[in-house]
Amino acid sequence: MKPPIILINYKAYENSYGEKGVEISKKIEKVSKDYGVPIIISVPATMIYKLSQILEIPVYAQHVDALRHGAHTGAILPEMIKDAGAKGSLLNHSERKIRLDEIHEAVTRIRDLGLESVVCADSYELVHPLALLRPNAILIEPPELIGSGRAVSKEKPEVITRAVNEIKKVEGVYLIAGAGITTGEDVYKAIELGADGIGVASAVMKSSTPEKIVEDFVINALKAIDKKK
Ligand code: G3P
Repeated sequence: MKPPIILINYKAYENSYGEKGVEISKKIEKVSKDYGVPIIISVPATMIYKLSQILEIPVYAQHVDALRHGAHTGAILPEMIKDAGAKGSLLNHSERKIRLDEIHEAVTRIRDLGLESVVCADSYELVHPLALLRPNAILIEPPELIGSGRAVSKEKPEVITRAVNEIKKVEGVYLIAGAGITTGEDVYKAIELGADGIGVASAVMKSSTPEKIVEDFVINALKAIDKKK
């Protein structure tokens, strides 16, 4: 059975960068190693190099610009995140939306560079069309539940089950569910509903004991996967 996918999006929380960013990342890596579950961290662009140097868990960017080398002030290109040590990137997050043609270009370039992409979808209707672009995974997140503490798996389970049906139309693309995931039970439920894993931010980044939250997520994810066997 394939391991659950746990993706932690650092966003721009206070502890997402600097020494605090290093500290939380080491704690997350320890949980990953203790349980043998890969945990993806999606970090601010300024932290990709630093964290990639000291960690073995996959470090992702939170966004890339689908631009070619040239006169693009402030741009973050797929080539740049690869050079900094990233293993992949999130794309089209609800807080950083891009056009469909930009998603297509970014996914293709990321793949050509040997990196991975996780494309966010804010509704289940977009899961199939976005999966046809062949990212590694789609992250389904109803925007109204992001940062709410009300988990998609409990508040809108039908979004996950419908997204799971949509992803089945395309082979080889994983489906992750996120928004409001707070407890181990939320994680269990998401996987029970058919998701391959979860995406999370605030419950981890705003916790005083993030390692305990992540550990609870991992334990419950493994339990849910085990039950499916
Ligand atoms: O990318 C994951 C994120 O948008 C979910 O945020 O705070 O609801 O866990 P949150």
